[in-house]
Amino acid sequence: MGEHWDVFLAPYRQAVEELKVKLKGMRSRFVMHSEHSAVEFVTGRVKPIASILDKAAKKNIPLSNLSEEMQDIAGLRIMCQFVDDIKIVVEMLQNRNDFEIIEKRDYINKNKESGYRSLHVVIRYPVQTIKGEKQILIEIQIRTLAMNFWATIEHSLNYKYRGQFPEDIQLRLKSAAEAAYRLDEEMSLIREEIQEAQAFFTKKKEVHDSD
Ligand code: GTP
Ligand code: MG
Repeated sequence: MGEHWDVFLAPYRQAVEELKVKLKGMRSRFVMHSEHSAVEFVTGRVKPIASILDKAAKKNIPLSNLSEEMQDIAGLRIMCQFVDDIKIVVEMLQNRNDFEIIEKRDYINKNKESGYRSLHVVIRYPVQTIKGEKQILIEIQIRTLAMNFWATIEHSLNYKYRGQFPEDIQLRLKSAAEAAYRLDEEMSLIREEIQEAQAFFTKKKEVHDSD
C-alpha cells in the first residue's frame, strides 16, 4: 500500500509546492508596487496518510472516492493582516486562470459553533504529470492573523482533548474567539493609520538599503 500512497499523493505534493510559490508571489508583487500586501504569509501541507484514513472512516468515504470526496488532501492557507484583505485575496484568486474556484465557504460572516472563523475556497487545479494532466481538488483557507492564532491554539487543544473539551476550556475558547474578533475589528478601525506607518517604514528601509 505504501507505494500506492506515494503514487496517489504525488500530484497533491506537486500542487502544494507549486501553489506555495504562486501564492507567495502575490505578496512579492504587492511589495514590488509599494502597496499594502493583502497577503501576509502562506503555508501549505499535504494531509498525513493517518489523517486521511481517519477522516475517510469518520465520513464514510470509500478510499476509491478520495480524490472526489476529500477536498482537503492538499491544503493551502493564506494569512492576511486585515479582514478586508480577505476579500481582495478571494477576488485575486477568482481572476486567475491557472485554476478554477468550485466552492466557497464563508465562516467569517457565519462562524462555526466552535468560534472558528475563516474563508474557505475549493479549487480545481491541473497538475502536469508524466502521464498527462491530472485535475485535483485543493482547499485554500484565507484568514486574518487573529483568526489564525485562535484556530492554531484551538487545533492543538482539540488534539490534546480529542475534541472533548472540558467545559471551562470550552468557555475560554469561546471568549478567546470573541477577543480575536474584536482585535480584527479594532485593527480595521486603525487600518489606514497602520498602513501609512508600514508604507513609511518600507520607504525608509529602501532609502536605507540603497545607501
Ligand atoms: P471537514 O469534514 O473537516 O472537511 O469539515 P467541513 O467540510 O464541514 O468544513 P470545511 O472543509 O469547510 O472546514 C474544515 C477545515 O477547516 C478543517 O480541516 C480545519 O482546517 C478548519 N476548521 C473547521 N472548523 C474548525 C474549528 O472549529 N477549529 C479549527 N481549529 N479549525 C477548523
Ligand atoms: Mg471539508
